[in-house]
Amino acid sequence: MGQILVTGGAGYIGAHTVKRLAKAGYETVVLDNLSTGHRDFARWGNFIQGDVCDAAVLDMVFGSREIEAVVHFAAASQVGESVLSPLFYYQNNVQGAVTLLAAMRRHKVDTLVFSSTCAVYGPPFDGLLTEDHPIRPLSPYAHTKRMIEQILEDCSRANGLRALCLRYFNAAGADPEGEVGERHLPETHLIPLVLQTALGQRECIQILGDDYDTPDGTAIRDYIHVQDLADAHVLALAHLRSGGASGAYNLGNGLGHSVRQVVEAARAVTGLNVPVRQAPRRAGDSPRLVGDAARARAELGWRPQFTDIGEIIQTAWDWHRLEPHDPRPL
Ligand SMILES: NC(=O)c1ccc[n+]([C@@H]2O[C@H](COP(=O)([O-])OP(=O)(O)OC[C@H]3O[C@@H](n4cnc5c(N)ncnc54)[C@H](O)[C@@H]3O)[C@@H](O)[C@H]2O)c1
Repeated sequence: MGQILVTGGAGYIGAHTVKRLAKAGYETVVLDNLSTGHRDFARWGNFIQGDVCDAAVLDMVFGSREIEAVVHFAAASQVGESVLSPLFYYQNNVQGAVTLLAAMRRHKVDTLVFSSTCAVYGPPFDGLLTEDHPIRPLSPYAHTKRMIEQILEDCSRANGLRALCLRYFNAAGADPEGEVGERHLPETHLIPLVLQTALGQRECIQILGDDYDTPDGTAIRDYIHVQDLADAHVLALAHLRSGGASGAYNLGNGLGHSVRQVVEAARAVTGLNVPVRQAPRRAGDSPRLVGDAARARAELGWRPQFTDIGEIIQTAWDWHRLEPHDPRPL
């Protein structure tokens, strides 16, 4: 069995996935430029610091070892930042993916698992979104993901690429064994921000929009535990290795929680006060994103282990209270 190249494997979801791949018996090599990742997260398998936009680095990686498949996490992934700096997003994400695919083709590697997002879906946002829901990205970030999905579809048809696009809903929580967790600098994700506020590291948590068409006016998301996401990648590789077809899969719990409900759940887990402040909506955000993952359950055999929001927040809390303080303001 060859090695698995994990781009972005020093990031939040990538690091959890590398751990689960190692547990499943895979040998991995992480390629990460550490732009938002962390050297101490790349603690399983091999590590190379480098950029997926750099064809020479990719030739070195593919040329110096037997790579069997690629799991491609490397991307810039902040919706708000992408609205302000779209060119950086198209360059880093789309050009990065094209450079990677070209290198895979040069080195005859035909198997890829790609980190996509529920943010590719457009209105209407009510009900559970299936993979057949209309695609209409609302931000440059989401556009980059959809463009890459399209490129993968085209390459599957033309070149025999075998690719699975995994559309994550909101990744949350931390490794239950505490070896790795969520560390985005700056942090923009709700659960870590709420927990940092509970720890007194932030004055308050900003609720970005309370005028959405939802029961309490705040945005609703489907929180999926990062270890369950990691396990889906192991299953996705097994599916492709056993000759399974290319395609797209939602990865979510099918349960929607509003921003206010997450704050309440965090108060219950921590027993601490979490002051909140209302703020305007953030450009590019959808009111409600809740996924139907029946296809991943049926075709990949995926069974998420963490379905309770309190349990998910508890694993994040166990990680965050031991993390050093991030002094950067919101
Ligand atoms: N966190 C979520 O809820 C979520 C939801 C949907 C999709 N995703 C996608 O999942 C993937 C991982 O997200 P994450 O939350 O772990 O983010 P992250 O920022 O923690 O991880 C991304 C990693 O990619 C690396 N990277 C970025 N550009 C690179 C480049 N050009 N070359 C090499 N390395 C590069 C970063 O240094 C980082 O380690 C991303 O593709 C993201 O778009 C995340």
